[in-house]
Parts: sequence; structure tokens; C-alpha cells
Amino acid sequence: MIGAFDSGHGGLTVFRALTERFAAVPFVYLGDHANAPYGNRPSEEVVDLTRAGVETLFRRGATLVLLACNTATCVAARTLQQDWLPTSEWKGRNVLGIVAPTVEAATQTPWAVSAPQYPQKYNTDTVAVFGTTRTITSYVYPEEIRKRCPKVVVVQQIVADLVTAIEAGADETELDRIVKLGVDGLMAQTGGLPPHRAILGCTHFPLVEHLFRKHLPVFTRILSQPEIVADSLEDYFHRRPHFIAGPKRQGPPELLTTGDPSQVSAAARIFWPDAPKFAHIDQI
Ligand code: DGL
Repeated sequence: MIGAFDSGHGGLTVFRALTERFAAVPFVYLGDHANAPYGNRPSEEVVDLTRAGVETLFRRGATLVLLACNTATCVAARTLQQDWLPTSEWKGRNVLGIVAPTVEAATQTPWAVSAPQYPQKYNTDTVAVFGTTRTITSYVYPEEIRKRCPKVVVVQQIVADLVTAIEAGADETELDRIVKLGVDGLMAQTGGLPPHRAILGCTHFPLVEHLFRKHLPVFTRILSQPEIVADSLEDYFHRRPHFIAGPKRQGPPELLTTGDPSQVSAAARIFWPDAPKFAHIDQI
């Protein structure tokens, strides 16, 4: 079974794409709604909560957990992969994040290549990153991009209120106002020069991709994570088929929450109109 973990609802944008792409694979999703959002929390808390979420999914039978959350990935993925997992009781299982496939798409460079390769196709381009406060202040995206393509200019922009507004079901005018503010902030940093590519580095932002499209310059290519992550996971499963060997999925994927399942199931419709119902689980 493959697990996906997110602070709340946002990871459903990625999870939905995965369940559609891998129709026979059993999936379980855990949203830590009791502690969401993570985007403004101190890093230590994000690491502890993410480890607890991963462990809950491992106990539930997941052999691989995808952190379907940019904040959790930027803040906790490396610590969990390098420091915690190898010394834990879960050796042989794995934790993946959603930053690696996004950086691969932005740089056209495999994650395994962690130093510049020449000639670089995009080596002087400008890449924009939109995200939560914690994702942007982690500097993970610029660091990982520049490791591979040192001449790429990375411009980051916090779009602080967008997560809350999307979750609150804000109307199109309000969402448009917040996205425009974010894009204006970004363009002020580039001095009006259009970025070549823009990473929507928050799980909620694909829901308003059309508004980013409206306000970003026409030449800027938007990198949206659900498809990028599904492509990357497909490649990963080809290389490591044992993660998806075993019984095929019967029925819909399982959705778990640390919050109130009826409230969460109702709110999840913004992210996935036909989402199955959530069930409650306590984090370990
Ligand atoms: N899932 C988070 C992300 O992708 C957004 C919500 C939160 O801040 O918890 O950054």
C-alpha cells in the first residue's frame, strides 16, 4: 500500500492525480487536520508532526509514504530520509517528497545529478516559486535548483493568505485579488521581466492555476505538481516495482484525518468533488 501525507486537504490535489494514474494501486491518505496548517509553524513542529504522520501510515501498512505537502517536504523530508528512517524500525520502507520531482521538472535535470552538468539547456533562465511562508523561508527550492543549474535565477514569493482563502471557500474575486497581489510581488522582484517558469509550490495553488495563468506573463510556463509528481512516481515504480507488488486496489482509496471526519469530508469537496469520505485516526 502507498501512503500520502499532508497537513490537511491540499495534498488531495496530488493524491487525486495519483489515484487516477495508478488505478490498481492501493492508496491511503492521511491529512493532519488537527494540526493544520503547517505553513506558519516552527520547523521543529513540522518535523515532529510529519514524522508522526509517516509512522501512522507505516503502521497502517504503507511501504512508501509520499509527503504530498510542500511545507512538510521542504522542512522535514531530508531529516526523515537521512536521520530518522535508517535508524528507525521502518528500514526498507521509504519516504518521498514532492520537491524533488518539481525541481527535476524546473531544471530538466535528474535529482540524482546534484552538481551542474554542461551544456545546460536552461542555465540562465529565471524560475519563480510561489509558496507558503515556511516553504519559501526554507530556501529549499532555490538551493536545490542552483545546485544543478547555478546560473538560474530563482525568485521566490510568499502568497500567505491563499491557503486560508481557498480553504474558506473564498469567492473568485477574492482569490483573484490574492493571486494578483502575489504575482505583482513577484514581478516587482524581477523588475518586470517575465520568469521562464513558475512553480506553484503549494498543494492548494493548482486549484487557482487559472488565476496564476491570468496574471503571469504569457511566456511563463506554469509547473503544476499533480501531473509532475504522478509522472515521477510512475518512473519510480518502474525502477522499484516491489512497492506496488501485491493485492490490487478494490474500491476507492482510503482517506484518514486527525480532525473531525464529517467536517473534513465536507470541506474536501473544494479539492476533490467526488472524494470518498474521511475516517478519523489519532496520530501515533
Ligand atoms: N500543504 C501545504 C503546502 O503544500 C499547504 C497547507 C499548509 O500550510 O499546511 O505547502
